[in-house]
Amino acid sequence: MPVEVAAHAGFCMGVSRAVEKAEAMAKDGIPSCTLGELIHNPQVIRDLAERGLEPIREPEEAGSRRVLIRSHGVSPQVLEKLREAGNEILDLTCPFVDKLHRIVEEGSRDGTPVILVGERDHPEVRGTAGWAHGEVMFVAGPGEAERLPEIEKAVVVCQTTFPHSRWEAILEVLQRKIRQPDCRCTICNATEIRQKEARELAARADAMIVVGGRNSANTQKLYAICKNVCPRTILVESAAEIPPAFANKDSEMIGITAGASTPTDSLKEVVTRMSELENKDLNPTAEVDTNNDFMAEVESTLVRIRPG
Ligand code: F3S
Repeated sequence: MPVEVAAHAGFCMGVSRAVEKAEAMAKDGIPSCTLGELIHNPQVIRDLAERGLEPIREPEEAGSRRVLIRSHGVSPQVLEKLREAGNEILDLTCPFVDKLHRIVEEGSRDGTPVILVGERDHPEVRGTAGWAHGEVMFVAGPGEAERLPEIEKAVVVCQTTFPHSRWEAILEVLQRKIRQPDCRCTICNATEIRQKEARELAARADAMIVVGGRNSANTQKLYAICKNVCPRTILVESAAEIPPAFANKDSEMIGITAGASTPTDSLKEVVTRMSELENKDLNPTAEVDTNNDFMAEVESTLVRIRPG
C-alpha cells in the first residue's frame, strides 16, 4: 500500500516559529500566557496549558505574566495596553502579517483610508485594522465591494490567508471604484500551495487522510478540497482516529496532508499508523513514497520543535 505525503503539509513558517518559541517559554519557569490560542490545534493547546502556558482572551487577564503574541498579530493598542500594565511581551507575529501591518500604518499616515479585504471577525484582520491612522473599510467579497461609494484614494490590502481568486475578483471592482488605488497583494502563499498540492494528491489517491484540528479553518478547507475530488477522504485529529478498515487493499494509494496548524509529530504518527494497519515494518521512512525530501524535513523540524 503506497503512502504519499503532500510536499507541503503541516506547520507553516509563522506557526512553526510561534510553537517553537512557546515550547521554549514553557520550559524556562517564568509565568507566561498566550493572548488567544496559539494555534487551532486542541492537542497543542492542551499540552502547553499543562505546562503552564495557558491562553487568555483579553490583555487584562494576563496579570503580571509574560505575554506571548501569536502569529496572527495584534493591534498597537493591545500592545500599548500590555506595556502600560508592565507585562513583558514576546511578539511572535508572523513576518508576513508584520509586513501587512507596516503597509497599513505607513500608507494611512496621511489619513488615506484603508480597504481591508478579508473576514472582519478574523483575529488577524481585527489586529491589522488597529494599525490604520484613518478610516478602515472591510470587504469580504465582490458584492460588498460593489456597495462601497466612489472613493478618491485608498490603500487596499488583504488578509494573508485570503484566497487569491477572490482577491482578484474584488480588486477588479475596487479599481473601478477608487480613483487613485494603492493595491498591495499581501497574501502569503503557504495556504494556497498546501491547497493546490492537496487537490493534486487527492485526484491521484484512492483514499485521503487530512490531519488537523476540527476547529482549524484551513484544515477544514483542505478536507473539503480533498473530499471533492476523492470521496474516500477522512479528517482526523490524531492517528488513533483512523478506522482500522480504512486501508483495506494493498494496491490502494493513500494520500496524506495536514493543515498549517498540525504538529509535525501528529503527521508522522499518521504515516506510522498506516504502516501498522498493514503490519509492515514500522520505519516510516521506508514506507513513504515522498515526492520531495519531506521526511528529512520532518526529522529536522522535530529536532527544532522538541529540542533534546
Ligand atoms: Fe504566516 Fe502564512 Fe503561516 S501568514 S502564519 S506563514 S499561513
